[in-house]
Amino acid sequence: MTVPTSVGPTTLAVLCATTVFALAATDEPIVPIQPAKITSPALVELGKKLYFDPRLSKSGFISCNSCHNLSMGGTDNLPTSIGDKWQQGPINAPTVLNSRMNLAQFWDGRAKDLKAQAGGPIANPGEMAFTHQLAVEVLESIPAYVGEFEKAFGSPGVDIDRVTTAIAAFEETLVTPNGRFDKWLKGDKKALSAQELAGYELFKDSGCVACHNGEAVGGSSFQKMGVMEPYQTKSKAEGLAGVTGKDADRFNFKVPTLRNVEMTYPYFHDGAYWTLTEVVDLMGRLQLGKTFSPEENASIVAFLKTLTGDQPDFRLPVLPPSTDKTPRPKPFG
Ligand code: HEC
Ligand code: HEC
Repeated sequence: MTVPTSVGPTTLAVLCATTVFALAATDEPIVPIQPAKITSPALVELGKKLYFDPRLSKSGFISCNSCHNLSMGGTDNLPTSIGDKWQQGPINAPTVLNSRMNLAQFWDGRAKDLKAQAGGPIANPGEMAFTHQLAVEVLESIPAYVGEFEKAFGSPGVDIDRVTTAIAAFEETLVTPNGRFDKWLKGDKKALSAQELAGYELFKDSGCVACHNGEAVGGSSFQKMGVMEPYQTKSKAEGLAGVTGKDADRFNFKVPTLRNVEMTYPYFHDGAYWTLTEVVDLMGRLQLGKTFSPEENASIVAFLKTLTGDQPDFRLPVLPPSTDKTPRPKPFG
């Protein structure tokens, strides 16, 4: 802000008033989600098609949307995902909604951003079980796709770098603004009930916001699961230690976003808990050494449900048909 050279009493009063207002509006540890700004519609459209296209998998049956279903909060609502040949996945699929806000991708942060992440599942034998080369061959065999790549990138050519760039551009648009909590943050004091507001106060005062904060109400740090008491799980996931090799990082996971958390059950990296009531109780005890009364627990759950925002709303993409040259899917071989 530039300070005017001569400041009269009225200007000062106005300046102070705006500063106070700005502070009041940003004083909260959670900030409203900004709607997506689409700078390249052709790229986003292409990315949307690729996101929904099961031909990027060996079986021809599994797309990104199979495990991150945009009709179900960007998840599969399963403890762990089902991959190629009905393989049981090792870990719960986090939502893709608002994932652009994460400091890194995956529970252990091993991909630095959405583009780096997007190549992973296509070639992961336990997920889409394809190769990047075969995925590119499939797309190159479909003239409508070849044309769309040229339009989106301004020059001809299909390669895995462009595939992941387009998917990431689409994912950037998967944000969920206008939740009731955001309306309240922006000044609509009627947007929350007394119980929901009491839940938010508890969420702040008990210390949940130390880890769940910012635009995504999470995603901004790695934290130990089981600070005060160890978490009992059958999962073998090590968290950040698997990436850094440091013992101190064992059981440190990326703090999940709590946006749309009502839709993204079951919870935790092992997908072991289905209800917010259980999860709030566990978080209180394991992370903060606090036992909530049933009323307190119910208000926190009520608050968490106000974090559901507008879900992505678009026409289901129609995928260009395969041609005589398109490599055939191998669902059973
Ligand atoms: C077979 C199920 C499956 C498929 C198919 C799949 N994913 Fe995932 N996805 C997962 C699982 C499980 C994780 C968590 C893995 C981990 O953290 O180790 C994940 C993690 C992610 C994340 C990180 C989110 C976060 O908060 O860390 C993003 C983004 C993502 N997937 C996008 C995609 C895209 C894009 C595709 C298609 C190219 C895709 N996924 C295909 C199951 C799947
Ligand atoms: C010390 C940091 C920390 C604190 C404090 C904390 N959390 Fe968490 N929270 C996490 C981590 C890390 C996870 C993921 C743990 C895992 O999956 O193993 C998590 C997971 C969750 C989940 C499940 C989300 C999902 O999609 O799986 C909810 C809901 C949640 N926390 C709510 C709360 C509430 C309510 C409080 C306060 C009572 C709280 N958290 C306090 C770090 C924290």
